[in-house]
Amino acid sequence: MKETFLKKIKDKEAVIGVIGLGYVGLPLNLCFVEKGFRSIGFDIDKAKVDSLQSKKSYIKHISSERISKAVGTNLFDTTTDFSRLKECDAILIAVPTPLNKNREPEMEYIVKTCEAIYPYLRKGQLVVLESTTYPGTTVEVVVPILEKSGLKVDIDFYAAFSPEREDPNNPNYTTETIPKVVGATSPEGLEVANAVYSQIVVRTVPVSSTHVAEATKLMENIFRSVNIALVNGLKMTFMKMGIDIWEVIEAAKTKPFGYMPFYPGPGLGGHCIPIDPFYLTWKAREYGMNTRFIELAGEVNTSMPDFVVHRVMEVLNEFGKPVKGSKILMLGLAYKANVDDDRESPSYFLMEKLEAKGAIVEYNDPFVPVIKPTREHPQFVGKKSVEISSKYDLILIATAHELYKTIDLPSFGVPLVDTRNLISMVAKGVFKA
Ligand SMILES: NC(=O)c1ccc[n+]([C@@H]2O[C@H](COP(=O)([O-])OP(=O)(O)OC[C@H]3O[C@@H](n4cnc5c(N)ncnc54)[C@H](O)[C@@H]3O)[C@@H](O)[C@H]2O)c1
Repeated sequence: MKETFLKKIKDKEAVIGVIGLGYVGLPLNLCFVEKGFRSIGFDIDKAKVDSLQSKKSYIKHISSERISKAVGTNLFDTTTDFSRLKECDAILIAVPTPLNKNREPEMEYIVKTCEAIYPYLRKGQLVVLESTTYPGTTVEVVVPILEKSGLKVDIDFYAAFSPEREDPNNPNYTTETIPKVVGATSPEGLEVANAVYSQIVVRTVPVSSTHVAEATKLMENIFRSVNIALVNGLKMTFMKMGIDIWEVIEAAKTKPFGYMPFYPGPGLGGHCIPIDPFYLTWKAREYGMNTRFIELAGEVNTSMPDFVVHRVMEVLNEFGKPVKGSKILMLGLAYKANVDDDRESPSYFLMEKLEAKGAIVEYNDPFVPVIKPTREHPQFVGKKSVEISSKYDLILIATAHELYKTIDLPSFGVPLVDTRNLISMVAKGVFKA
């Protein structure tokens, strides 16, 4: 079984299926096509499938031209028909792994996907989970569902875990240039999964088990969450001392060893850092372990929007205005600079908290012209990005989009509260938060 699989990969005859055509799945799919493999993208969202079939991208940093090229090769296909999984030799899963209301892992997407795979599972296939999740998921959740097919892992099919390390819009790294960690349920499975990923990335990092691969991804994101919390905490302390944290970071990062810069902000955002660490917290409880660092970092980071709201109130107060009834323009709805991804964005929490205090809040974000339905903040759906003008009592900078740097924001004559050090100069009417 292994030799047949490896030969198919070597001869570029293997068909790659990617389930979930989002930020992670779509570039993955395109990479295989660009390396000469037939690749089928599966999604339950027909709108995405239709969009790709008409050569249109729905992700800002993936151009329609790239989609069009892929479609033109006749190697790229997309579908909502899961019976076509039979055609695939490798099936890669990149579906969401959010938290539920109790901040516990929401495994529904992985479970439903595996339920959709097993009726079509056939001998010799490889199934790889890419979604970020707790250690044990591949063996405890994915494999048992796949085995409902009557086939046995590592006898009839292979199972592996390979975490995604996509950093949307990072000009220095693409899917191909980021080393990829791969773990499987057997040495043969590892060899097979490794062969698949070696086709599209510069370097694979084989590890001894799916558990290690799952834990690696969590450790990377916990590292970020804890360090961001640390710098957020330091920011508040230094601010009381009249010290600018941004200047401190610039100075500290000149140390050529033993230091890595992290930057403060109005809170965590995106699909990963606010969520992934709690996958470990949840699983650790099963082992009687408390993950206090993770909890503390979560506490500090989730309190940042409150800190910013407090700063906004202080600044308005300096101008003799109450927050109630004040008109506030928030710059940036995306969770990070220069992307159109507003998932878990702290901007939503800022708007919500300011509005709860009676402020009238509008936003500007050229990347998010209108707020699409989100699970968390339904009250903002349909709200539209407005022009930057001087008609506001305060402008709150929540995201440091590059294009904001080309605008002379202080010239609007409106007090500015800057959570991102977008305006690095010390100027009248500019307040750091
Ligand atoms: N976005 C990132 O930068 C990033 C980075 C690293 C890891 N991850 C992880 O990768 C995974 C996917 O994240 P994403 O950002 O690509 O999510 P996404 O929401 O952009 O895409 C997920 C896609 O899966 C589809 N989907 C949902 N349920 C499905 C099902 N049952 N069958 C088929 N398709 C289904 C959705 O329609 C959507 O198109 C998550 O676990 C995430 O934590 C994301």
